[in-house]
Amino acid sequence: MKQFKLAVAASTLVILVGCGGGRDYTPPADASGEQIFTTACSECHKPLSADKAMILGSGVASKEAIIKKFQSGSMRMPAFKNIQGESADRLADYVLKNSEVRK
Ligand code: HEC
Repeated sequence: MKQFKLAVAASTLVILVGCGGGRDYTPPADASGEQIFTTACSECHKPLSADKAMILGSGVASKEAIIKKFQSGSMRMPAFKNIQGESADRLADYVLKNSEVRK
């Protein structure tokens, strides 16, 4: 019984940490930008179509801004601190190339 309560407490914690805060996800070294997006981002950012990942505000329509966004997060978006280096580069490239920019 004690163990059951512990399990419930642990899963509640996982749910609470789910939104906002940060995510521990670390992409495999050889993951493509698209694979990272599908695993880490599409839960919230549903791809609009097969070749369109997001609609970007003009303020985030650069690689630097996209990397900053997912590494630092925001009030409603978790920070992905473990997407770094080449993985961050590939992910930002993918998002930028496959997004529409809102004017
Ligand atoms: C838990 C949900 C959630 C996840 C997971 C998530 N995001 Fe977000 N993201 C949001 C929300 C909500 C916004 C809009 C609010 C904001 O800009 O802070 C947003 C905004 C953005 C923006 C800015 C869009 C604009 O035009 O202003 C970018 C870029 C972005 N996300 C990229 C990503 C990437 C890349 C990932 C995967 C590493 C990701 N997000 C994962 C919820 C999420």
